[in-house]
Amino acid sequence: MTHIRTFSVVALATATALTLAACGGGSAAEGGGAGESHTLRVALNQTEEHPSFIALDHFGERLEEATEGRWKMEVYPNETLGAQQEALQLVSQGSVDLAIVSGTQLENLNEDFRVFNLPKVFDDVEHQMEVIHDPEITGDLYTSLEESNNLTVVGGFTQGARSIYTTDAPVKTPEDLAGKKLRVQESDVMIAMAEALGASATPMAFGELYTALQSGVVDAAENNEVSYWTQKHYEVAPYFSNTNHLVGLDYLIINSDLLGEMSEEDRAAFQTEWTATHEEHTGLWTTATEEDIASAEAAGATFTEVDEAAFDKVLEPLADKFIENDAQQALYDAARAAAE
Ligand code: GCU
Repeated sequence: MTHIRTFSVVALATATALTLAACGGGSAAEGGGAGESHTLRVALNQTEEHPSFIALDHFGERLEEATEGRWKMEVYPNETLGAQQEALQLVSQGSVDLAIVSGTQLENLNEDFRVFNLPKVFDDVEHQMEVIHDPEITGDLYTSLEESNNLTVVGGFTQGARSIYTTDAPVKTPEDLAGKKLRVQESDVMIAMAEALGASATPMAFGELYTALQSGVVDAAENNEVSYWTQKHYEVAPYFSNTNHLVGLDYLIINSDLLGEMSEEDRAAFQTEWTATHEEHTGLWTTATEEDIASAEAAGATFTEVDEAAFDKVLEPLADKFIENDAQQALYDAARAAAE
C-alpha cells in the first residue's frame, strides 16, 4: 500500500474553516452526548444537478428524519472541499466526514481496488451495482483501509459507461488516438489504459479538465455523458465517440473513527438510508444519461458510433497485467461469475 502523494494546504484550511463554522468550534465527529446533533460534511466533485449530488442530498434528509435530527448532512459540490485526492486525505484525517471518490483513487491506497477499475469487469450498471453491494463478493475490501488510512468504504455509485471525446474530430478506432494527449484519472490502471489505446496519458484532477481541453493541454478525455454535460466539456470537446470502454465506479467513503462513534441504532439507520440512496442514484442515472445526451446534442455536440470491439480488443490484456495476487483474482472471478 502507498500513501496519498499530494495534499493541498488550501483545501485543508477551507475545510477546517467550514468545520469550525458548522460546529461552533469542534469537529462534527466530537461530542456524542444524548440529544446532540451532528452535521456530516460530504465532499463531492460534481455539480448540484448531477445525480450524485441529488441522491446524497436526499440521503441527508432521510438520515436526519430516521435519526430524529441526531445526524444531518451537508453536501459540498464542485470540489469546494478539494479535488478527490485532497478530499480523501481530509476524510482520512477527520476534518471532512465523507467523500465520493472514484475507484481510481482507492487503487492508490490498496491495489486490490484495481480489479473494479478494469475495463470490462462489469457488463453494465446493473451488474456493477449487484457486484459491489454484495458482501459475499467484496469480502474485506471495504474495511481494508481502516487501519492504514482510517477510511471505510460505505458502498458505491455508478459512473455509467465511459467513452472518449475530443476537441478536433471524432475517434472511431484506437488508431485515431495515436499521438493524442488523453486526460485520465490519477491511477496506474487508467494510465495503462490510455497507453493501450495508443494515446499519450495525461493524468489530472477532474476540475482541471475543462481548461486543459480548452487550452490544448490535452486533446481528449474520457467520461460518461452526465459529466460531459454537467461539466460543460461539450463546449470545448464537441466530438463524443461511444466507445463505452469501461463502466466506472465511485465510492462513498467515511472516516472510520466517526463511523465507530455512531450508536448501533444510528449506524443501522445510516446503512438502511444508504441502500435507498444508491438505489435512487441508479434510477436517476438512467434518466440523466438520456437527458444529458439530448442536451449536449442540442448544444452542438456530436455522438459517433464506433467499432466497440476494436477498443475492447486492445484493452483486454489489462486484466492480466493488473491481476497479480489471489485476492484480486478472487474478486475478478466473482465479479465475472455474477454476470453469467
Ligand atoms: C466521473 C466520476 C468522478 C471522477 C470523474 C473523473 O465524473 O463520477 O468521480 O472524478 O469521472 O474523470 O475524474
